[in-house]
Amino acid sequence: MTNNSTTPLIEFETPRLRLRQWRESDFAPFFALACDPQVMEFLLPLPTRADSDASADRARALIAKNGWGFWAVEHKASGEFAGFTGLNVPMASLPFSPCVEIGWRFARKWWGQGMATEAARGALQVGFERLGLDEIVAFTAVGNVRSAAVMERLGMHEDVAGAFDHPAVPEGHALRRHRLYRIGRPQR
Ligand SMILES: CC(C)(COP(=O)(O)OP(=O)(O)OC[C@H]1O[C@@H](n2cnc3c(N)ncnc32)[C@H](O)[C@@H]1OP(=O)(O)O)[C@@H](O)C(=O)NCCC(=O)NCCS
Repeated sequence: MTNNSTTPLIEFETPRLRLRQWRESDFAPFFALACDPQVMEFLLPLPTRADSDASADRARALIAKNGWGFWAVEHKASGEFAGFTGLNVPMASLPFSPCVEIGWRFARKWWGQGMATEAARGALQVGFERLGLDEIVAFTAVGNVRSAAVMERLGMHEDVAGAFDHPAVPEGHALRRHRLYRIGRPQR
């Protein structure tokens, strides 16, 4: 399958999940995530439907342009939109830029089943084997223990000295301090 340009569109499956381009029908369930205080506990708010749609639209546009990005995650057995997982070049300039990050967000009903780890393993494989990346980073607000646990399950290593204040989070905000994890391309 190809997108509008010459960049091939990458979509893929894991045992339980399909990582694919966003559809208009994903936008409402994606906004439901933004309305769940537990999902948003360690994230900056997307307070309106328009903010949420703009964020999903940005992910869709980047996948259309590059062939990869933060993919929508569909639960194969039910066809439900579960959240997103994927690879992204952060918009903000970070102390370790240039970099490609891996990130995830799931609706609460899918937590505790290994879905994020499964989706992220697939995304790492795409990053290393199809995109030829040498390294993928992940970062999260200090305190987001669930997200850091995904990083550790994936075999990522914490760069303790690399902890940083995220420039997109206002000074003095509780979510400003971030932990940094890294993983290199597996040696064959
Ligand atoms: C971060 C987030 C995706 C993690 O979700 P999660 O359910 O904890 O992580 P996983 O999907 O990998 O599931 C792991 C859990 O499932 C269990 N599990 C069950 N089957 C499993 C399997 N086959 N493989 C791995 N874990 C499995 C694990 O034991 C673990 O259980 P625990 O919650 O008791 O520790 C989720 O909390 C979330 O969406 N948070 C809000 C958004 C967010 O903060 N995103 C990150 C910003 S940096």
